[in-house]
Amino acid sequence: MRVVKPKDRSKRGRKNRYIPNLAAAQFKPTEDWSVEKARREYQKAVFNKGVDRIVFRDCVKEMGKLPEESVDVIIADPPFGLSFTGKESMYNRDDRFVRDGYQEIEGDYEEFSRSWILQLPRIMKDTGSAWIFSGWTHLREILNTINESGLMLVNHIIWKYPFGVFTRRKFVTSHYHVLFLVKSSKYYFNRIAHYPLDIWEINRTYRRGEMKNGTKLPEELIARCIEFTSRPGSLILDPFMGNGTTAVAAKGTFRHYLGFEVNKSMDAVIETNLGLIKLGEFYVPYGDRSDELVTRARQRYGLDPEKSRIEV
Ligand SMILES: C[S@@+](CC[C@H](N)C(=O)[O-])C[C@H]1O[C@@H](n2cnc3c(N)ncnc32)[C@H](O)[C@@H]1O
Repeated sequence: MRVVKPKDRSKRGRKNRYIPNLAAAQFKPTEDWSVEKARREYQKAVFNKGVDRIVFRDCVKEMGKLPEESVDVIIADPPFGLSFTGKESMYNRDDRFVRDGYQEIEGDYEEFSRSWILQLPRIMKDTGSAWIFSGWTHLREILNTINESGLMLVNHIIWKYPFGVFTRRKFVTSHYHVLFLVKSSKYYFNRIAHYPLDIWEINRTYRRGEMKNGTKLPEELIARCIEFTSRPGSLILDPFMGNGTTAVAAKGTFRHYLGFEVNKSMDAVIETNLGLIKLGEFYVPYGDRSDELVTRARQRYGLDPEKSRIEV
């Protein structure tokens, strides 16, 4: 009988020679579009229901009317459940610019979360994703409801902002939770950055004299969610549109949007914010964006970004 000796793995070398920063030097996004191609994708997208509009009604009722599997990405930043009006002086804002009518939650936060989160899987495409924003106070109720919905949590991202409400006997909160959820393993993910970490440091932006309700997210934050999980021409839904930040981020990145908002007085604010940006204004082909790690690695190997392959 022939005896086969087990191979001594310790004597074998690595299959591929280790080259420092090779992956960074050779980085390519999964998919990429020139500005003109992205614009064409945007123009040729066809939808059953009217898009690029905000419906000033309760999202709980309106989402029930959307067709099954019709949405690529959901961006949802629900009310905090903290009797917040956005005018609180502790937020150190000039409240002449803060609109009235921010709709808070009365009653049980988990019941409210169930009323909208449980609707998401039906309207999401199999390739789709949902991004839910939450402070830590009601995170538990949101996570419980996600569990019940059957959506899968892919990443629990922390958005860190260099701003917080002054406190005397506790730490200043300067982060937010961003939950990246999908419906199936077929979800679309475009790795548009070489090494995307799950802590995002993005400043809150305040333009002088801009009208808003007091809870505006930065466009950069929403554009990041949109660009990693959709293509130009995709449909982005925001059930709690607020200042129209998702609409602005979608328009700025060649995506279509649909939104709901109960506070009718935000209509003029959203119109103004949308009027301030041009279609595709934020869009830069992903391969052309500056990435320090990638640039340094390419310099190290003297690589041209167009032909970023190293013969090993
Ligand atoms: C936290 S804010 C969203 C802010 C938004 N992300 C932005 O950047 O401007 C939540 C918004 O949801 C709205 N809202 C509350 N309940 C709603 C409901 N049932 N349907 C639609 N909008 C609702 C509030 O009036 C408020 O404008």
